[in-house]
This record gives sequence, structure tokens and C-alpha cells, in this order.
Amino acid sequence: MGFDQYHEPAAELSQKTRTFVRMLTSLTEEAEAIGWYEQRISLEKDNAAKQIMEKAQEEEFIHFAMNLEFLLRQKKKWKTVMQNVLFKPGDIVKNSEQAEEEVE
Ligand SMILES: [Fe+2]
Repeated sequence: MGFDQYHEPAAELSQKTRTFVRMLTSLTEEAEAIGWYEQRISLEKDNAAKQIMEKAQEEEFIHFAMNLEFLLRQKKKWKTVMQNVLFKPGDIVKNSEQAEEEVE
């Protein structure tokens, strides 16, 4: 079991910070799982196996979303950025630039 998600001495970090970092690590792992399934699905020739992997990937989307929602509830600025960037029509880069202005 690795503990390398910490870049500062874990004993000096608050419980809240350690939980936040754990959830960030989980978010990263869920994203990796989504990517791994994406690659497997793209190569799989057996239709039944492919459907199982697609279902598994859908569950990773849910895991990712739950982790992200938890984190956003901890960081108001991050949540504001996400609200200003996600699910918006138009140019993604322009939306992100506006999101930066609204947070500052
Ligand atoms: Fe997962």
C-alpha cells in the first residue's frame, strides 16, 4: 500500500487535508480506470466481453463523479470554476478564461 499521495509530512496535515488528498487520489484512480477500460473496449473483439467492460466503465464514471462532488463541496472556488466551465455551450477555452476572472 502506497502513501506517496502526500508531499508534506502526513502527521503534520489536518484530518480534513488528509481526507481531501485521499479523495483526490481516488479521483485520479477512477480517471485511470476509465482510461484503461477505454483502451480495452477499443480493442476487444468479443461483444459480450465488450459490453461487460462498457458497464464497468460506466460504474467508474459514477465513482469519478462522486469523488469530484465530494471535493467540490470542500472547495468553493473550485466549485465556482467548474460551474462556469462545465456544461456550457461554446468555446471551452474562452469559457475557462471567463471562469478565471469570476473566481479572482
Ligand atoms: Fe472505481
